Amino acid sequence: MKKVSVIGAGNVGASTVQRLAEREVGDIVMLDIVPGLPQGKALDIMQAAPLMGYDSNIKGTNDYVDIEGSDIVIITAGIARKPGMTREDLLKINGKIIKEVCDNIRLYAPKSIIITVTNPLDIITYEVYHCTGFDKKRVFGMSGLLDSSRFAYFIAQEIGCSVKDIDAMVLGGHGDSMVPLPQYTTVSGIPISEFLSQETVDRIVRRTIDAGAEIVNLLKEGSAFYAPSAAIVSMVDAIINDSGRVLPASVYLEGEYGFHDICMGVPVKLGKNGIEKVIELKLKQEQLIALSKSEKSIRSGIEKLNLDIYKKAFLV
Ligand code: APR
Repeated sequence: MKKVSVIGAGNVGASTVQRLAEREVGDIVMLDIVPGLPQGKALDIMQAAPLMGYDSNIKGTNDYVDIEGSDIVIITAGIARKPGMTREDLLKINGKIIKEVCDNIRLYAPKSIIITVTNPLDIITYEVYHCTGFDKKRVFGMSGLLDSSRFAYFIAQEIGCSVKDIDAMVLGGHGDSMVPLPQYTTVSGIPISEFLSQETVDRIVRRTIDAGAEIVNLLKEGSAFYAPSAAIVSMVDAIINDSGRVLPASVYLEGEYGFHDICMGVPVKLGKNGIEKVIELKLKQEQLIALSKSEKSIRSGIEKLNLDIYKKAFLV
């Protein structure tokens, strides 16, 4: 029986717990800083179990002791983006929250695999990697999978075909600098160029890049959580079932795609131990340039985090 802990019982955290419970993944812990919030939501989701027919066990808590021995920890704690706010604006607030979360994961769940969700995603993933000192295989961010799902949805809508037949790939930073890859995106193996004009593809690429902001602007308060929680649960499934799924994730790079000491979205193979392999694709010149832009924007955020003390802590 696996134990999965979700840090943060807000929109993303709670909908992730709901999806995990419905899939009966194992023991689930939902932790939040607000007293009563995770307990109340856990109770609510459990009271749906007789109706939906799942035998899951959810514990809502404000105490990190309860995450002890977790196999997987999902970090959604932090504040969500407000209209007009970029993911980078979030850095200052969320960066501080994440340090505290990492200290506790190190203490109570030192063998866990961590999936980061809190934005700005790539920068936070880098922070978690350094602040926990975990092996790079066990720390990665959920971003590209969500971006790819958004890309796939828009393509299916445009073509008028089933979303089930779309395989889409998006690399780079989660944010304005993401790099959708139309040449690696197919409809049942058929390149999308057989269905859509270049102009249409360009328009869908643009909408994909802006997809998170489009939802933020519509909601007025808070950001997306249905699709993000679906992407998180797909990653949890891949780990628990050791399925070796190939999907994009934000991972710590040491030379792949020519980048060092940075976390960024790339295709990976995901299994029971976490990231089994980073897959290096041939990219077009303009996509390599876009990836470099992504790198610059992530690196400038990393510099603001002031992580030197953590890096030194793990060197000794
Ligand atoms: N420890 C634990 N939980 C915390 C802490 C903390 N130090 N600080 C804040 N939280 C909790 C809040 O109490 C809240 O319940 O994190 C939760 C965040 O939930 P929401 O505000 O609903 O945000 P959500 O939409 O879930 O997004 C969470 O995921 O997609 C990203 O950009 C998004 O960074 C954001 C994160």
